[in-house]
Amino acid sequence: MNVLLTGGAGYIGSHMAVALAQAGHLPVVFDNFCNSKPSVMARLAALCGDALPFVEADVRDTAAVLRAITERRIEAVVHFAALKAVGESVAKPLLYFENNVGGLLSLLQAMQSTGCRQIVFSSSAVVYGDPSRVPISEDHAVGYTNAYAQTKLVGEQFLEALLQSDPSWRVAVLRYFNPVGAHPSGQIGEDPSGIPNNLVPYIAQVAVGRRDRLQVFGSDYATPDGTGVRDYIHIQDLVAGHLASLRVLGEQGSHLVNLGTGKGYSVMEVIGAYARASGRPIPYEMAPRRPGDVATVFTDPTRAQSLLGWQAQFGLDDMCRSSWHWQQQNPNGYP
Ligand code: NAD
Ligand code: UD1
Repeated sequence: MNVLLTGGAGYIGSHMAVALAQAGHLPVVFDNFCNSKPSVMARLAALCGDALPFVEADVRDTAAVLRAITERRIEAVVHFAALKAVGESVAKPLLYFENNVGGLLSLLQAMQSTGCRQIVFSSSAVVYGDPSRVPISEDHAVGYTNAYAQTKLVGEQFLEALLQSDPSWRVAVLRYFNPVGAHPSGQIGEDPSGIPNNLVPYIAQVAVGRRDRLQVFGSDYATPDGTGVRDYIHIQDLVAGHLASLRVLGEQGSHLVNLGTGKGYSVMEVIGAYARASGRPIPYEMAPRRPGDVATVFTDPTRAQSLLGWQAQFGLDDMCRSSWHWQQQNPNGYP
């Protein structure tokens, strides 16, 4: 299949590009580099054995998306392109509505007029807000407490309306839990710009000496050690879930699935695993809770297993070793 990857130069998109190429598909990367670096393309070429087709453009440019779909004979789109910083979305909601909601709308309009009707949408466990029960299955109530989450929910609603209007659409909504780690080559990985918002990239920068110490946001949660519990998923498992989703999309049609391992780890457990993986101490200090954070989030992986025939293979130690492998080889991220 020829698959358009919007946001294909980003963290998850770049790993998906390699996975698609290795599975014999043709990934076409579409990105405006607002949160990634052009040098990722050379790494992708080296890993895929050839330069990948690439379009530098904004998804809100409907004509550019339309051209890419037509010229590259695109059969399915995986829509990663979005802004994803929760705190920034609270400060700049219009930026998030414009980029994430406007971007999806533009993409769907382009797809509608070309006849390409298969889409995989990057959603997030953030749509479950502060869950009333764990493990979280897909029928758990959804809601939002920040603009980022709102853009993901609105995106899901757009897609649902479209499906109802025209059943020839095939829509996969994938709600990711916490992706971490990198490609086994260590050539591509997560390279946040500025101060990392997320736990594992922050720990990685402490381990490699770029930052002094981690702040542990909250030690008084109702969890075994008082720190927040999350469902971390290896990026290689996550992209395998996307390949399974694309296959099911073609064979059976639309679906909505959580992608996580089904197991939760606390911040302290992640610190311990990273210290083991890197062989370095991870200095940390306890800090107040981060506004908007919740105690415990992990998925019920049942639907992913039954519907996609997929389940995560890697555990926390694998994820930390993989993150460290990338970080050690690229202490300052991509050139
Ligand atoms: P990322 O920032 O690394 O990648 C996103 C890519 O999209 C970047 O390369 C960026 O330049 C590009 N982009 C953004 N807006 C664009 C636009 N208007 N036009 C063209 N390109 C644009 O993020 P990621 O971690 O790879 O996340 C991918 C998707 O998965 C996002 O939709 C994100 O919301 C979702 N998601 C991510 C996580 C996570 O923890 N990483 C969790 C849940 C959901
Ligand atoms: C965050 C986003 C969420 C996104 C997810 C995956 C928020 C509120 N939510 O979720 O929308 O889908 O990332 O990318 O930002 N922690 C620390 N110190 C740090 C960083 C994090 O103690 O420096 C703790 C957090 O309090 C949390 C855990 O580590 O308990 C995981 O945090 P993080 O990696 O940011 O992921 P989420 O909060 O789950």
